[in-house]
Amino acid sequence: MDTCLVTGGAGYIGSHTVAELSRRGIRTVVVDNLSEGHPEAVLDSPLEEVDLGDEDGLSRIFEKNHVSGVIHFASLCYVGESVTNPRVYFEQNLGNALTLLRAMLRHGVKKFILSSTCATYGDPIRVPIDESHPQDPVNPYGETKYFIERILKDYDRAYGLRFVALRYFNAAGASRDNRLGESHDPETHLIPRVLQVAKNGGSVDVYGEDYQTPDGSCIRDYIHVEDLATAHVAALEWLDGAKRSDAFNLGTGHGYSVKEVIETARVVTGRDIPVRIGPRRAGDPPALVADARKADRILGWKAAYSELRTIVETAWQWELKRRY
Ligand SMILES: NC(=O)c1ccc[n+]([C@@H]2O[C@H](COP(=O)([O-])OP(=O)(O)OC[C@H]3O[C@@H](n4cnc5c(N)ncnc54)[C@H](O)[C@@H]3O)[C@@H](O)[C@H]2O)c1
Repeated sequence: MDTCLVTGGAGYIGSHTVAELSRRGIRTVVVDNLSEGHPEAVLDSPLEEVDLGDEDGLSRIFEKNHVSGVIHFASLCYVGESVTNPRVYFEQNLGNALTLLRAMLRHGVKKFILSSTCATYGDPIRVPIDESHPQDPVNPYGETKYFIERILKDYDRAYGLRFVALRYFNAAGASRDNRLGESHDPETHLIPRVLQVAKNGGSVDVYGEDYQTPDGSCIRDYIHVEDLATAHVAALEWLDGAKRSDAFNLGTGHGYSVKEVIETARVVTGRDIPVRIGPRRAGDPPALVADARKADRILGWKAAYSELRTIVETAWQWELKRRY
């Protein structure tokens, strides 16, 4: 039976996507070194604990399974760390992608979906950001994703390897059945940090309230992780029929400020959430909002669960009962 190989499938977005693929009857095999991922997050799929740098290990997985496509989530994802230690980001994110692509070509697998990011656009010159916006990343994390996109274009031309680059905006929320959610260490994402304060006390740092936005705090486009999951299935199905590769933004087209997120979390949790206003962080653009109409037009995909209230409610239910 055809199998979709999912790298990083024990991580946050990967695990939700594996669950959606399995709901749709698509067989998967997860490859994850569990550096950030959790075995408990891999539902309904075999898990191979292999590092992507281990080419022999990868080859064995390709040989053992009838792999017809690859979804590549595994990556180092901390922007700040990528600035202080770019070597590791280029070696891991780029090096591992090249190893994976080599294994694919050797085994005749020509369908690839990349977890890309709005960070490939850098500081936006217009908002909302559509896919034709110039890509000019401002940190090594974003650069690694941008370079992989460029490499994929060459591999398509030369080897007929078809790909979809999905440029996520801010992934958030947890599965509506409360079986999966976000669990990073350290946690850098706003919504889980806010909810951890609601649960455990402390305060939330807000980085800057003097931006040119209605309430002075940064605006981001939050996309529910289960909407990301359905987009991967749509991209995989599209690649079956498409004779070309493409890139799509995944967002809602609606931005929420940091202060709006905190206020929504206060309402959902019924708890006090103290904030500490600090200085701006270097490299934080005032607003990042997607124009995601292309994904609707071509993939037939639209966000369905990404109301801020739904995102915060599902994340809160997860925070209260997290399994890992
Ligand atoms: N979370 C977001 O808001 C967001 C936004 C844009 C893009 N992305 C991209 O989406 C992807 C998934 O993000 P996430 O938030 O689920 O991250 P995550 O850290 O939860 O998941 C990544 C998974 O990859 C695994 N992994 C890392 N290096 C590996 C290696 N060398 N070999 C095997 N497995 C390895 C980790 O153990 C982890 O399970 C990443 O590529 C990230 O850059 C995420």
